[in-house]
Amino acid sequence: MWYPGHIEKAKNRIRKNLKIVDAVVELLDARIPFSSRAYEYDELFQNKQRILVLNKEDLADPAITSQWIKFYKKDHDVISANLKRSDASSFLKRKILPKIKGKFIEKKIMIVGVPNVGKSTLINRIKGKKSLAVGNRPGITRGIQWIKVNEQLSVLDTPGILYTRLHSPNIKMKLIATGCLPLEQVDLFDAMKKIYSFLITRYGENVFDNVLKKQKGEHVDYVTFLEFYSKEKSFIKRGQEYDYERAAAHFLINLTKGNFGRFSYETPDDIESLNNGEAAYNGKS
Ligand code: GTP
Repeated sequence: MWYPGHIEKAKNRIRKNLKIVDAVVELLDARIPFSSRAYEYDELFQNKQRILVLNKEDLADPAITSQWIKFYKKDHDVISANLKRSDASSFLKRKILPKIKGKFIEKKIMIVGVPNVGKSTLINRIKGKKSLAVGNRPGITRGIQWIKVNEQLSVLDTPGILYTRLHSPNIKMKLIATGCLPLEQVDLFDAMKKIYSFLITRYGENVFDNVLKKQKGEHVDYVTFLEFYSKEKSFIKRGQEYDYERAAAHFLINLTKGNFGRFSYETPDDIESLNNGEAAYNGKS
């Protein structure tokens, strides 16, 4: 689980290194660009330039990603990305570097994000062959490395992991649906029920027509869906019972990987329409 001790440690690590970075790259999950932002970001980075990267755009609903870009553009630099596919080093050079303000030619950035959002992928791609880890710098936490991408860009090689607010069951559902929370830590059926209901409500009854051979557009509740799913996948327990648990885990894992389609779990309108949106964002409710 996400223990408060871990969060404090991560925050301290980030605070220590913030002083020498020009900009913070907030890596967000494009499917939940609001819920994958930790509420501490505002307090921690208030004096820093922030560049928002909506990663895993290949898994998100493209129309909704465009809405988010427009929404965040008002206050931040923001871009969407598929770091799995693109050459992140050239992506950084072309898309991020020109946005960084700073006194010196060499710009220094820090990358933060919730678990599984793609921080290591970004760092590994940046590392590439040409880049050079230049080791510790005085006054910085021991063991921290800078990756010198080129004369103009260095990246801190300790991705800061921050955690989003978990007190809301709705946010938990979104983190599960995007793979930011491991399935071992959740109630599978509860997660399945919420995510399934959300998707058929938002995307329509026929959203999983390609997943199951059921009647097109036919309404089935999540239990019946799991029954059909177990049957089709031959997930049978001893005694010829359907293995609902295995079916739910299999379905959720494939959903997070985008194997059933591209879905987004929140829109700017959803967030703005929450009366207490701002309070919740600041962790006050
Ligand atoms: P933690 O170490 O848990 O904090 O994770 P992380 O933020 O370092 O994420 P990591 O780079 O390990 O990526 C998690 C998974 O997401 C991996 O399987 C990556 O291949 C995948 N991934 C990263 N970026 C993308 C992307 O843009 N699209 C897709 N489809 N997958 C991605």
